[in-house]
Amino acid sequence: MVDHGKLLTTALRGGKTVRPPIWLMRQAGRYLPEYRAVRAQAGSFLEVCYTPDLTVEVTLQPVRRFGLDAAILFSDILVIPDAMGQEVTFIEGEGPRLEPVTGVDGLGRLSVDRVTGYLTPVYESVRRLRAELPAETALIGFAGAPWTVATYMVEGGGSRDYACTKLWAYGDPDGFARLIDMLVEATTAHLIAQAESGVDAVQLFDSWAGVLPEAAFRRWVIEPTARIIGAFRARCADVPVIGFPRGAGLLTREYAEATGVDAIGLDTTMPLDWARDTLRPNVALQGNLDPVMLVAGGALMRTAAENILHRLGSDGFVFNLGHGILPQTPPEHVAELTALVRGWRP
Ligand code: CP3
Repeated sequence: MVDHGKLLTTALRGGKTVRPPIWLMRQAGRYLPEYRAVRAQAGSFLEVCYTPDLTVEVTLQPVRRFGLDAAILFSDILVIPDAMGQEVTFIEGEGPRLEPVTGVDGLGRLSVDRVTGYLTPVYESVRRLRAELPAETALIGFAGAPWTVATYMVEGGGSRDYACTKLWAYGDPDGFARLIDMLVEATTAHLIAQAESGVDAVQLFDSWAGVLPEAAFRRWVIEPTARIIGAFRARCADVPVIGFPRGAGLLTREYAEATGVDAIGLDTTMPLDWARDTLRPNVALQGNLDPVMLVAGGALMRTAAENILHRLGSDGFVFNLGHGILPQTPPEHVAELTALVRGWRP
């Protein structure tokens, strides 16, 4: 078997690399004119996600342009509720809209069994991408973690305070657990199908992990994630898992120990020395340049990137942002950042 994307997988396993690999969350997307052209021709965002010709093209665009060390499958965390039968639409300039599920009564119209069948075009894209990418470029698969996906399913879109989701989780934990259990099962199946189709690593995005108090964080972030990773490992032992519990702060340590992740994606606010001394002994690290530094470019961006490289960059480290690329990011800044990291030596 060819050892695809070795720079990334070695770093994710905590190993020594000549330099840190680099990829960027949301590296495909609206900041690229070639993405906007594909998006304008497709009828909808989900059509880009479910049409392998389009998915493959937009996934490859940033890798072609910048020479990044990994491609991330072009998809979305909300393909899971869509595949389970909840209506999901993406409104230009406004974000996702879902028909809200507000209690156990709403679970009856959702089905976990249809998920991998519905997502067949996604796995077809993974197979084609793995065949088309150079062997040294890793292919990353992903899913949203149950808590974060549940917030979109319950609120019906993005939210300011997650009040509906929290009220359900706090007031009827057994009922909310049924939704989370469905998401654990669907997410595990989706990650395994991506791995069996050829991805070299996977990332679990828990973008709203940071809004829960301690006990709820354990129950709705750590526990479901640990179950997904346990089941995933049993089937796909050689595919490293990156966890991105955004905003988890001091609870990141417990998350790293209890979930079984190979690597932690550090958000922009995580102190680097704390991450190195507290997390790095047990897991690899990824992150965490402020996406706004990438908008700024120039000396601001270079100094911030070099600071991260000097403090974390020797081994078991993957360079990334602390959250996704912003739409107003000039592509030339991405080219400069990529060249800087590729030229850096510990
Ligand atoms: O990183 C990549 O390049 C791969 C593709 C990817 C997308 N979404 C494409 C996308 C990935 C990894 C995601 C993850 C995702 N999606 C997350 C977790 C990461 C994070 O940012 O916190 C979340 C919370 C979502 C849900 C989502 N999808 C929202 C809130 C929105 C609207 C806001 C926005 O950024 O536009 C989307 C739409 C979306 N997903 C777009 C893209 C390129 C833009 C839609 C378009 O092009 O019309």
